[in-house]
Parts: sequence; structure tokens; C-alpha cells
Amino acid sequence: MAKITYLECSKCGERVSADTPQTLCPKDAGSLYVRYDLELLKKTFTRESLAGKPASMWRYAAVLPDAEPVTLGEGFTPMLESRRTPGVYIKDEGINPTGSFKARGLSAAVTMVRHYGVKKVAIPSAGNAASALAAYAAAAGVEAHIFMPKDVPQANYIECTSYGANVTLVDGLISDCARIIGERKQQEGWFDISTLKEPFRIEGKKTMGYEVAEQLGWKLPDGIIYPTGGGVGLIGMWKAFEEMEQLGWVSGKRPKMIVVQASGCAPIPKAWEEHKAVSEAWKNASTIAAGLRVPKAYGDYIILDILKQSGGTAVEATDDEIMLAFQQWAREEGVFAAPEGAASLVAYQKLRKSGFFKESDKVVLFNTGSGLKYIDVIAAWQEKNKAQQPKTRAMGGIIQPY
Ligand SMILES: Cc1ncc(COP(=O)(O)O)c(C=O)c1O
Ligand SMILES: [Zn+2]
Repeated sequence: MAKITYLECSKCGERVSADTPQTLCPKDAGSLYVRYDLELLKKTFTRESLAGKPASMWRYAAVLPDAEPVTLGEGFTPMLESRRTPGVYIKDEGINPTGSFKARGLSAAVTMVRHYGVKKVAIPSAGNAASALAAYAAAAGVEAHIFMPKDVPQANYIECTSYGANVTLVDGLISDCARIIGERKQQEGWFDISTLKEPFRIEGKKTMGYEVAEQLGWKLPDGIIYPTGGGVGLIGMWKAFEEMEQLGWVSGKRPKMIVVQASGCAPIPKAWEEHKAVSEAWKNASTIAAGLRVPKAYGDYIILDILKQSGGTAVEATDDEIMLAFQQWAREEGVFAAPEGAASLVAYQKLRKSGFFKESDKVVLFNTGSGLKYIDVIAAWQEKNKAQQPKTRAMGGIIQPY
């Protein structure tokens, strides 16, 4: 495992010691990146050294903080080549513990929380980050305080309470949950584990970038489509590409990074279109894809910069487009995606239509979670949209047993 040399501010470059728990840059509240001595690591941490390492994100422990992992087996998820569109890959994060990619970030963050001896953590969440924190906190013996919008998918609420977390449902959005934690954390003694307000969730999520490279034979794809709320995965993967270049593992052009958000909450596509460096808070955010209901990402300036650097773009998808894509993946690929993940397929189809991607481009579509966590949401949409349902083959109905 890697010794952290320092934490570096993403805004002003200020260096902060990792010897004690840190949240944001003390100068300008920028998010902090974890830095290691990659020149030193390069000597021993080679691509070949991965042989025989665990099939989890901890196979990349050499570039993760030096601490005893709190793990439930997260990461090293399947990279499925589309059965209909060769060259298009579905990175299926629904296989993770607690059914989403949030497991990676929270495994890393809770590892460090335990390492530092922190006893109580708090998180504002659109749903899946809460479930993941609750599970890892239970595994680590840490007290979790969770604030979620009151209309989160039912699974998230039931998971959190089952794991023994303290759950508060808020009549508002994730931004309201974050505000409440901000107001109470000092008095309550909570460590704030919000997206991009501590440095280690990025470290967990960056392993997706390492996996994309390893699973595609160390040749990075032409594009990566990522359903973006707070954007930690996108930021983490970009960091992974930089690290792998320094380790001499990959070279050449990095993938075009594509943000997809829901039309009912699309601050990044709006800012991208208007050539802005930061986004404006989205008003009346509403979408079936709960994880994309983030009115303003804390790290919007980093996300927009990555889109620019990579030659990427930002796309939006309506709820109906998302749910039709959900059905398409289920029927054509056997993948039961989270609505957020299905948004990646909508973005890919739009970008093929516009000519942004060619047929020959290798593109990785992130399915960030399992549709099983959204059964109530999916059932409600299907009931409301009966006319759009494809005919099912099994029409036997209910029969009495003999
Ligand atoms: C399934 C799913 N996909 C995507 C996202 C967005 O993730 P991020 O906030 O890291 O951009 C979330 C966030 O809750 C999610 O639960
Ligand atoms: Zn700073």
C-alpha cells in the first residue's frame, strides 16, 4: 500500500498533511487530491504485479492509502461487451456490495475513517451512497448518520436502517441534507463524508479507471459515458489515467469523458453549453434517476475542466428516454440497470446520432447501479406507461395450484 506524501488542493495547489483527518483546503475550500510518490512506486508496482491479486478494487492497493481495508469485496466488476453493438462496453457496477459503484468510494473513505480513529460520520445522500456508507460503517464499527430526501427509493431506506445507521428523511433535496449536516456536525462531533468534502471517496472511485484500462488490455477506450451527480467517479477516473501515465502503464490519448444527466436536473450540460467554468444550482430538480438529482455538484469546476481537457461533452436524458433505455438493456443485454446507468445508453445513442461517436469508436458505458434497488420506481413507471411496454411472452397470468 502507498504512503501518502501529501494532500493537494484541486483549486490552489496548497499541500496539506494527511497525518490527521482532513476535509477541504484550509485556504479556499477546494477538494483535496491524495498524492503518492509514483516515481518510487513505479519501480515495484508494475502491470505484471497485478497477477494473482484479489478480484476487488484492492488489487490496486499499491496506489491506495496505507491502511487496513474495510472491504466487502467491492470492485473488479464485469466489463461486458454489448451483444448488439460490438465495441461498446457496459461496465456493470450493479454487481458491487449494496448494488452500486458507491461501494468503492465508501470502502476507501470508511477505511480511512477507521484508520484515523473517527467514531461518527455523517453523509447527505441521494440514496446509494447512504446504503454503502451504512454497510461499511457497520463492518467497521463506526456510527453512521444519514440524511436523505424523503422520497428516495425504498430499498435505500430499508438498507440503511437494517445496517443500523441513524437515518433522517428530509423534505427536500440532497443539497438541503448537506446544509443540515453542515449546521449540526460540529456540535454532534460528526466527520462529514460528503462527496468531494473529504479526499478518499475519489481514491475508491478512481479504481474504475484502473479497471477500465486493465480489462481492455491496457488500451484506453475512445470514450467513457458516466451518469453524473456529484461527479466523483469521473474525477476519480481522470486521476487514475494521470497516475497510470506516470506509472508508465498507459500512454496516448485519454478517453473523451462524457457526462450524462437527467433533463429534470441538468446543471452540467447547461453550464457546458454556455461555456461556463462552474454550474448554477438547478431549480426544482426532479427525475426518476435519484442519484442524478444533484442541483449543484461541489466539484463542478473540476468536472467541467475534465470535459474540456478530454474533448468530451455533456448530454441530458429525459425520464422516458431513460426508462426505454432501461428496457432495451434488460431485453437485449440481460442487464437490469439502475435508471442512472440506463441514461448512459441514451447518451451513447444521442452521440452516435449526432456523429460525435463513430461506429468504430470503443466506448465504455457505466451502469452505476442495479435496477433491483429501484423496483418501486420501475413498477410505478411501468404502471403509468402501460402503452409503451413491449408485449411479454409469459402471459399465463395467475393459476390455482392443483
Ligand atoms: C446509481 C447512481 N449512479 C450515479 C450516481 C451519481 O454519482 P456521483 O454523485 O458520484 O456523480 C449516483 C449517486 O447517487 C447513483 O446512485
Ligand atoms: Zn486551495
